[in-house]
Amino acid sequence: STIENGNFEWSAPSNIALVKYWGKKDNQIPANPSVSFTLSNCKTITKLGFTKRYTSAPLSGTTAVFSFDLLFEGKPKEDFKPKIQKFLERIEIYLPFLKDYHFTIDTQNTFPHSSGIASSASGMAALAMNFMSLERALNPEMTAEYFYQKASFLARLGSGSACRSVKGNVVVWGNQANIEGSSDLFGVEFPYTIHDNFRNYQDTILLVDKGEKQVSSTVGHDLMHNHPYAERRFAQAHENLDRLISIFESGNIDEFIKVVESESLTLHAMMMTSMPYYILMKPNTLQIINAIWKFRSETQIPVCFTLDAGANVHVLYPENVSEKVLQFIQDELVVFCQNGQYICDEIGHGAIAL
Ligand code: PMV
Repeated sequence: STIENGNFEWSAPSNIALVKYWGKKDNQIPANPSVSFTLSNCKTITKLGFTKRYTSAPLSGTTAVFSFDLLFEGKPKEDFKPKIQKFLERIEIYLPFLKDYHFTIDTQNTFPHSSGIASSASGMAALAMNFMSLERALNPEMTAEYFYQKASFLARLGSGSACRSVKGNVVVWGNQANIEGSSDLFGVEFPYTIHDNFRNYQDTILLVDKGEKQVSSTVGHDLMHNHPYAERRFAQAHENLDRLISIFESGNIDEFIKVVESESLTLHAMMMTSMPYYILMKPNTLQIINAIWKFRSETQIPVCFTLDAGANVHVLYPENVSEKVLQFIQDELVVFCQNGQYICDEIGHGAIAL
């Protein structure tokens, strides 16, 4: 069938990895499986307008090119276009109609721009959802399962971790023998029991350094090629994911904390031991980690941290201690944040059609 024009709109959240994806093979295949909490408040909202094109002649060079405009927070944004262009090139074989349309991609984030929070996961997921909506409009026979699975597959080709932002609340990406349905090609909802202790788990993101990323994730993943500890690290990710299966079932938060904190320090250890080597933590990152450890040992309140490939700290804790932890954050951690900024988030449900 053909459709002349129209538009779709989706929101997709960010996610925070518990077992980290760090290292990849060709075609965005992860070197190890990862698992994340889908977030709720930190999200990208993207509207996709589309109009059928009637140019039979190639528009440039020898092959027709993609035709799209990009608006970020309502204004044209040229510097994001190459990333989108690359994404379209990668997904075209799976969405052969892409060159038949002119697109207007109108996108915004709910979190501040240049806050040091990566918008690639939520952004690529929101865009993938929109393209799947168009595919479904052209081929209405698809199942919901196919729709979401292919959306995650496409999002992965935009940014690996984006494939974990399509669904909630806990998403696994990467083949793990004892997790049924897990795949290197797309994220799947964690298929086993999750104890109530993890329901509405909180993530308060402390903005320590809002600057541009010192190491792009593309460069970062490449550091795992010829890394002296790569193979052991990839095996460890499988072991930690395996431990999380029973931790999620039993609700053992003490064990959860050990896995999650160790994963984030290992991620940073990989960067410190690669060639070239990097230190992505800032002095305030360490101040925060030490303050969390002290608070936890003094109060027995099960709060922990995780880090992505940067200086910001995600503070994770169960909902029933929210009040005490937020008080602690305000009293003792906000001083380490740039301009005192932090973002309160929690586990969420994945992408939503608007
Ligand atoms: O999706 P990418 O290529 O930006 O990689 C993200 C990597 C980490 O955020 C550091 C870890 C993860 O699993 O999200």
